[in-house]
Amino acid sequence: MSFHIALTFEDGLTRFIDANLGETVADAAYRQGINIPLDCRDGACGTCKSFCEAGRYDGGSYIEDALTDAEAEEGYCLTCQMRPASDIVLRIAASSDICKTRAMNVSAEVVSVTRLSDSSIGLSLALDNAARLAFLPGQYVNIEVPGTGQTRSYSFSSPPGAELATFLIRNVPGGLMSGYLTGRAKPGDRLTLTGPLGSFYLREVRRPVLMLAGGTGLAPFLSMLDRIAAVEGSNSHPVHLIYGVTLDHDLVEVEALQRFAERIPGFTFTTCVADQGSSHPLKGYVTHHLQPEHLNGGNVDVYLCGPPPMVEAVRTHFRDCGLTPASFHYEKFAASEGNGR
Ligand SMILES: Cc1cc2nc3c(=O)[nH]c(=O)nc-3n(C[C@H](O)[C@H](O)[C@H](O)COP(=O)(O)OP(=O)(O)OC[C@H]3O[C@@H](n4cnc5c(N)ncnc54)[C@H](O)[C@@H]3O)c2cc1C
Ligand code: FES
Repeated sequence: MSFHIALTFEDGLTRFIDANLGETVADAAYRQGINIPLDCRDGACGTCKSFCEAGRYDGGSYIEDALTDAEAEEGYCLTCQMRPASDIVLRIAASSDICKTRAMNVSAEVVSVTRLSDSSIGLSLALDNAARLAFLPGQYVNIEVPGTGQTRSYSFSSPPGAELATFLIRNVPGGLMSGYLTGRAKPGDRLTLTGPLGSFYLREVRRPVLMLAGGTGLAPFLSMLDRIAAVEGSNSHPVHLIYGVTLDHDLVEVEALQRFAERIPGFTFTTCVADQGSSHPLKGYVTHHLQPEHLNGGNVDVYLCGPPPMVEAVRTHFRDCGLTPASFHYEKFAASEGNGR
């Protein structure tokens, strides 16, 4: 018997390892060539202190100097001592290069490119080795634009382990990847993906969740909702998504959200369109449609994803209103460096 351990590094890279029953995380990592920080290996120095985002484990034995009771209560653990009792997500306090590991490169074949609207594209890929590119729901990969040597980042909209990896991509006029997808792309094309990357991933659902999506920032939430539907089931806490777009035609994948509302008992969603000329019943930005019950008196995990101005506007709104949720995770769909922004 073994468990899947996701090691997320400070530079945003994630690597998955297997830990055998009774094996410490540190031993499992070194066995698989990942040199996470270690010194005494004896629960005495605290060098291997990490943060457990999800999963169960036996913390092993150690002294207070290495890990205090308060830290252990918070979720900190010692990788040289801990023995997993389930799959685990661990935040390692070091970058991937220090741990002598790096991102995975995986080849994929284009299965379909779908124009969902004037502004949005759906991309489906068959990965050559999906197991090599295990990821956490919410994470992204860098995809090389064929023939250019340049990459662009895209969040998976499909869940980990799905037969096809899917992406929801904004059609940026004049954009390199957008130009490829709307012009030359065809089934059978070969693409290279590098990753998985990012600290924007679904944590264990321990309290109500509020998801705020701007435009194609919906993509990681589709992956997260699939995970919630599969794992959390009817025990799930309430999850509310507010999905805001600029123009009517930017609103896509609403049927997928309706299907999630049928599959996940506590899931509800609201859509809104910023354009005042829209015929949509709810106009304005996501912040205009935040209701007190979505914030649950602050006992809520907030996930926010979209273009940088939207993410900044929401963060400013939370700050100005003095809203401090139990946890706040965000991802900005920033344009690539060196392309004029
Ligand atoms: C972590 C991360 C995850 C991302 N995930 C997604 C995703 O799931 N879906 C998605 O659609 N995008 C996502 N992005 C954005 C994506 O990586 C590209 O920046 C975007 O698709 C534009 O690429 P392009 O090659 O078509 O345009 P580029 O050639 O990069 O840009 C062409 C021109 O358009 C400008 N531009 C770029 N993006 C925009 C924009 N959104 N609005 C207006 N002007 C723009 C550029 O500054 C440049 O001047 C993500 C970005 C990051 C950092
Ligand atoms: S390496 Fe010293 S406590 Fe783990």
